[in-house]
Amino acid sequence: MQAWVIGNWKQNPATSHDVNALLDDLLTAVDTEEQVVKNSCRLMVAPSCIHLAAVSVRLKDTSVLCAAQDISAHSANTGAYTGDCSAQQVVDAGATWTILGHSERRQYHQESHECLLQKLTHALTQNLGVVFCIGETQAQYDDKQTLPVIDTQLSVIKDLLAQQPELTASLSERLIIAYEPVWAIGTGKVPTVAEVSATHQHIKQTVAGFADSLDTMTVLYGGSVNVDNADSFAADPMIDGALVGGASLKAESFLAIAEAFSRAMA
Ligand code: 13P
Repeated sequence: MQAWVIGNWKQNPATSHDVNALLDDLLTAVDTEEQVVKNSCRLMVAPSCIHLAAVSVRLKDTSVLCAAQDISAHSANTGAYTGDCSAQQVVDAGATWTILGHSERRQYHQESHECLLQKLTHALTQNLGVVFCIGETQAQYDDKQTLPVIDTQLSVIKDLLAQQPELTASLSERLIIAYEPVWAIGTGKVPTVAEVSATHQHIKQTVAGFADSLDTMTVLYGGSVNVDNADSFAADPMIDGALVGGASLKAESFLAIAEAFSRAMA
């Protein structure tokens, strides 16, 4: 099995110049470390929508995949939806994957169950792979509500399969779950590896319960993953990789995290 290390650049970097500088660093290092990373760890970056086309051009013919951070819920292709980018448009810009359901989208854009069901449907219709994010808030964690919260969030996948059973066979190839406790994002606070491991086990069992073909779901951990803690997450067999925010904005730290997962796979 391969690990996945995905950089979510969020609303960064500020300029095209800075995007290119980050890609220069990343691609130079990936070339050098190709053998270590390539075989055992897939790399993906998710630039902001405005940089997607330029980044995907530079990543063409490299081993690094390109993802959108979000797509429109309203239409898979075109329509009167000011400010939105559709699944078809991000595919045309070169994305092969999209992140969906990130907690920052849920929080700042009130993304609901129905909205995410629409987005998942549109993404898969356009052949985009989906990195589907779930995770509890600090209050829910303190209340020991982590598992019920993620069960509710995962039920979008169950509803998707009920509506479109024909997706079942191919979904394990096109869906990755990222468990990101909201309280760990950008805070430097992390759950213990044992807590993450138990939650991932629950996620894998839950998703496998939706369809037999989903019994090998890839589940990534996200939330303050950095060079210092990557090895400990990578060492746990339930943690198939990382969704990285802040540390993905420097090629050196992003690739060090990827190497940690590569080593653990070896
Ligand atoms: P940080 O790695 O900055 O905590 O962000 C995690 C995240 O939200 C990735 O999607």
